[in-house]
Amino acid sequence: MLMTCFLMILLTPFVESLNNGLTLTPPMGWLDWERFRCNIDCTNDPVNCIGEKLFMDIIDHMAADGFKDVGYEQVNIDDCWSLKERDAQGRLQADPKRFPHGIKYLADYAHSKGLKLGIYGDFGTHTCGGYPGSEDHLQTDAQTFAEWGIDMLKLDGCNSRVQDMDVGYPAMMRALNATGRPIIYSCSWPDYQRASGIKVNYTNIAINCNLWRNYADIQDSWDSVTGIIDYYGNSQDLFAWAAGPGHWNDPDMLIVGDFSLSYDQSKAQMALWAIFAAPLLMSNDLRKISPEAKEILLNQEVIAVNQDPLGKQGLRVLKSGNFEVWRRELSEKSLAVVLFYRATGGSDKEFSVSFKTLNITAAAVTARDLFAHKDLGTFKESFDARVNPSGVVMVKMTPQ
Ligand SMILES: *[C@@H]1O[C@H](CO)[C@@H](O)[C@H](O)[C@H]1NC(C)=O
Ligand SMILES: *[C@@H]1O[C@H](CO)[C@@H](O)[C@H](O)[C@H]1NC(C)=O
Repeated sequence: MLMTCFLMILLTPFVESLNNGLTLTPPMGWLDWERFRCNIDCTNDPVNCIGEKLFMDIIDHMAADGFKDVGYEQVNIDDCWSLKERDAQGRLQADPKRFPHGIKYLADYAHSKGLKLGIYGDFGTHTCGGYPGSEDHLQTDAQTFAEWGIDMLKLDGCNSRVQDMDVGYPAMMRALNATGRPIIYSCSWPDYQRASGIKVNYTNIAINCNLWRNYADIQDSWDSVTGIIDYYGNSQDLFAWAAGPGHWNDPDMLIVGDFSLSYDQSKAQMALWAIFAAPLLMSNDLRKISPEAKEILLNQEVIAVNQDPLGKQGLRVLKSGNFEVWRRELSEKSLAVVLFYRATGGSDKEFSVSFKTLNITAAAVTARDLFAHKDLGTFKESFDARVNPSGVVMVKMTPQ
């Protein structure tokens, strides 16, 4: 099986870096997985099942409710969209009961609204949900996706040999490139290597993928969100440097608007995902989202930090008990700073952070609160603010 794969690699000219011109800032959009999972029961749950109606509804809401206007562009299909068998020509096929007009119809529909369509595949023999994988079919699948008008591919890694990923994921990058259609390439490669105890070569990841998952799937819980934040803080030396225009670390979906996060926790996820220069892929039900969640997701000042053209991922610069400080360098010498208070009880509390901790050399900075949309004035030597438990204060600082 692998022989075809190796032959293809040998016969394909070496591509020095992923140069598809895409994701110069982190991609933004929506992905069904966390909220809708592998629900294929369109008979009993026609509104929430993985099928044409869900994606058309989401496309409509993305276009009409202000999401597209602030930069959310991708509407992405995750696992469980296909039939369990390939067609007579060996191509993947959408389940015709759930996608009666096929995937190209959905892509055309997304494009007609100024949006883009993403799809899901797997590097192994089968997807995580047991649908056909792309092993031995990389070129066919890339070609199929391109013919359908797909704009982004998430390639998962279930049911594969992790030791083959260093050759296989780049092979898919070349197969996508060979179609001539610009397709954003999202890799699960480093997460599978991490989970298998293999040292990840992020240089290699970054020249082959537009974005990549480093850590476990997000769940609809605050524990899951803080677990990811801790991994990003504790392991930042391993991979934060690999992020930049065209190539991003992906801490997984935004769950703002789902069932578990409080208002403050929702702001915390949005703030830290902006510090991470993370892809902003919401996984929620845009048909029934609260005004508070919507306001957080549409916060243009926080989105501007996420999308800052310098593309530098931010770092945790202080962790002291249940208090953390995160800092991201922005273009034009400004800084985004997040004070994160992780107490699980009590009241809001006053914190002070020195300019030394923030690595600020200017004598004074002005600070603007990006959630309150308020200028806080000029600060010298230190910045102080009151922060809610499991909440954040996020400011943009500009040197004077
Ligand atoms: C394919 O790769 C080449 C070389 O990096 C690049 O110039 C081109 O834009 C890529 N094409 C697509 C469709 O990704
Ligand atoms: C990591 O990948 C890069 C790019 O492919 C390569 O040049 C380098 O030798 C690799 N490093 C290791 C330790 O394998």
